[in-house]
Amino acid sequence: MNPSNLISKEEFLKRRERFMRKIGDGNVAVVVSGEEIIRNGDVHYPFRQNSSFHYLTGFPEPSSVAVFAPGTEKPYSLFVRPHDPVMETWVGPRIGLRKTISQFGADRSFDIAHLLDELPKLLSRADTLWYSIGTSAKVDQIVENQISERRDGLQRGGAALEAVRDPQELIDELRLIKSRGEITALQRAIDITAAGLAHIRDYIEPGRTEYEVQGTLEAEYRKLGSPRDGFPSIVAAGHNSCTLHYIDNRARIKNGDLLLLDTGAEWDFYSADVSRTYPANGKFTPVQKDVYEIVWSAQQTAIEAVRPGASFYDPHNAAVRILIEGLKDLKVLKGNRKSIESSFAYRPYYMHGTSHWLGLDVHDAGKYRNADQTPVALKPGMVLTVEPGLYFPRTVPGIPSELRGIGIRIEDDILVTRTKYRNLSAAIPSKSKEISD
Ligand code: GLY
Ligand code: MN
Ligand code: MN
Repeated sequence: MNPSNLISKEEFLKRRERFMRKIGDGNVAVVVSGEEIIRNGDVHYPFRQNSSFHYLTGFPEPSSVAVFAPGTEKPYSLFVRPHDPVMETWVGPRIGLRKTISQFGADRSFDIAHLLDELPKLLSRADTLWYSIGTSAKVDQIVENQISERRDGLQRGGAALEAVRDPQELIDELRLIKSRGEITALQRAIDITAAGLAHIRDYIEPGRTEYEVQGTLEAEYRKLGSPRDGFPSIVAAGHNSCTLHYIDNRARIKNGDLLLLDTGAEWDFYSADVSRTYPANGKFTPVQKDVYEIVWSAQQTAIEAVRPGASFYDPHNAAVRILIEGLKDLKVLKGNRKSIESSFAYRPYYMHGTSHWLGLDVHDAGKYRNADQTPVALKPGMVLTVEPGLYFPRTVPGIPSELRGIGIRIEDDILVTRTKYRNLSAAIPSKSKEISD
């Protein structure tokens, strides 16, 4: 299976056209790729393209720069690494300048080594330059030179560069609404994650280590063609489940432990993000089951709050209300629900948000609040996680002893549709009777 075939060339072209409409004719945008990072000697960390650069170009190589000049004859240029027989012997083939045009749709391609000579020419007539200052020291320098040269040219009848503006917000707006192709890619990532979780269900047992479970899970993702994970897998047994981003994964699983898995395979650069919490020995204790049912019901209620026009925070607020009632039933909190809500007294046990955007990045692009601080309203095509949890860490005083060390999170990936929502990860069992004997 080709791991990069669900987003068509036409879709990449459409993205660039939309982006260029936002930039406006007469202006120019410069977007830089990710860079390889050296780990030591001549060993690099595995390279994955920067998500926004990927979104616009689909070009997978580092040390690349895209230039967009809407309204001109050749609006899309890419600076890329040229062929280099020595480097290609060591680290593999490069796309090269010709295929950058024939396969990736650039109108022009340049050798990245000529950036200093060629980029200023492409910028020389821009009114507004859209560029995220700080993303490349080289481009920063070229932009700075451009500003001062244009200023110097004013006396000779030139025009000053009117503004340098950050294009990230424009790209984020585009990335926030997913196309049919993107939803298909996300669904594939989620289906592989589902298959991985199904694969390890019977493998999980007391005596195994977190890293064995992690290795077995991720091996299944690789076997199914996912090239990498969207983020480091969280495989947290017992007390470790109370550490929200626990990625050490070195402990041995004990009898009676819960095992919290928070994981997502990547497909076509899109990431799944699913959490499930299993009893390691196959059966919840009564108190584990009580907590699980509270989190599950908070999650179901939160998912039901997803619909077009709802606030981004509606699912969170719905989840918090159920969690507070549950904390009262568990005798962890006392008092009136509203006052617990407004005083945030639930925070020691539920300290994170319920949702984030999901897409090319696990915490995907897009804002949660508008400039006037009103919450963003949900729209068809947005994808968000719904992931309430309850955590009873050792470090918080006054927790009833039978609850200590319990950490439960249940997370699904939800697409906002025209009428309501679709749970893209619904096929991964989460009802307590499906995961406990
Ligand atoms: N996997 C990180 C998160 O759920 O936000
Ligand atoms: Mn997660
Ligand atoms: Mn998440």
